[in-house]
Amino acid sequence: MSLIPESKPKILIVDDEPANLRVLKSILQSDYQLTFAKSGEDALKLIDKDKPALILLDIMMPGMSGFDVCKTLKSQVENKSIPIIFVSALSEEMDEATGFEMGAVDYITKPVSPTLVKARVRTHLSLVQADVLKETRLQVIQVLGRASEYKDNETGMHVIRMSHYSKILAKAYGFCDAQAEQILNAAPMHDVGKIGIADSIMLKPGKLTDDEMNIMKTHPNIGADILGEGDSDLLRLARSIALTHHEKWDGSGYPNGLSGEDIPIEGRIVALADVFDALTSKRPYKDAWSVEKTMDLIKSESGLHFDPTLVNLLIQEMDQILAVYHKWQE
Ligand code: C2E
Ligand code: SIN
Ligand code: SIN
Ligand code: FE
Ligand code: FE
Repeated sequence: MSLIPESKPKILIVDDEPANLRVLKSILQSDYQLTFAKSGEDALKLIDKDKPALILLDIMMPGMSGFDVCKTLKSQVENKSIPIIFVSALSEEMDEATGFEMGAVDYITKPVSPTLVKARVRTHLSLVQADVLKETRLQVIQVLGRASEYKDNETGMHVIRMSHYSKILAKAYGFCDAQAEQILNAAPMHDVGKIGIADSIMLKPGKLTDDEMNIMKTHPNIGADILGEGDSDLLRLARSIALTHHEKWDGSGYPNGLSGEDIPIEGRIVALADVFDALTSKRPYKDAWSVEKTMDLIKSESGLHFDPTLVNLLIQEMDQILAVYHKWQE
């Protein structure tokens, strides 16, 4: 027996004509849990009571029209993401356009075709599931990022700051908002491979021996292995960052000794964001440096450790960087 109860998705059907309700009921009742409303007002009450996964909504009704119901739902945070399919005898193009403008996901005309109704309902329910999966994956990834950072810094502030620094650099480099947001979401996992490094090394108060440092240098590969081949853009980006955030512009970094633009841009960005934050923070093995001292080192490493273009962008965006630095202090 499964712990998750078997349940058919709930669909609310709204139409003032009992004959229309009956037709849709006969098409959908074997696959879904159906509830019915004969007016827009009743529909809104039912939706608050038992959240449907999808709504089939008539447009022309006495009292509140389907458009009114749609407008109301889209203004409610808790209901705005329920997909709405308009079902209407009006097949004029203007209505269809109005429906989509109001946020409906689809539009079906009466008399309805059973095959078409089933196909559209199935499609829109699976799109919702895909969104939920995407959201869940993002949350799992953020939890993984926090877990990995716990060894460096118990409050998790390092991942928050360095991922915001990474986003600022990505935007300044010319990435669009969506790509910069992906970097923000993937950067927290850069050190996930530290999970595989012994605490005796991770938390050592003093300098690491060469042997210890060589073990430490396996964390990018461990991280890439943990993140796997990745079935999403976000995981692939996270893997690339985990693997390449310790490469250096001049080719002297690890694990692969890549240089220049052979290092993926996301790795170059996170390398700079990570070191800026590591230097300005306290670590088990070091005190926090001032921003001035940190920037002096970073500038002296421009073209050696770091991509010089990115060092210039870090200087250019210093106001935004400092805002993050002050906002997320321990
Ligand atoms: P982390 O603490 O997140 O540091 C990330 C990177 O910031 C370091 O990569 C290095 O490039 C830079 N960084 C951090 N602290 C300093 C510093 O005091 N001076 C300079 N010039 N750069 C600094 P790196 O060196 O490859 O180290 C990777 C990780 O290895 C570090 O991550 C940290 O977890 C660990 N680690 C490195 N050195 C030591 C050490 O002496 N003692 C201990 N216990 N851990 C160390
Ligand atoms: C990119 O890889 O998306 C940017 C091109 C570059 O590497 O500079
Ligand atoms: C700072 O604001 O202290 C660093 C700015 C810079 O050195 O370019
Ligand atoms: Fe690292
Ligand atoms: Fe780090």
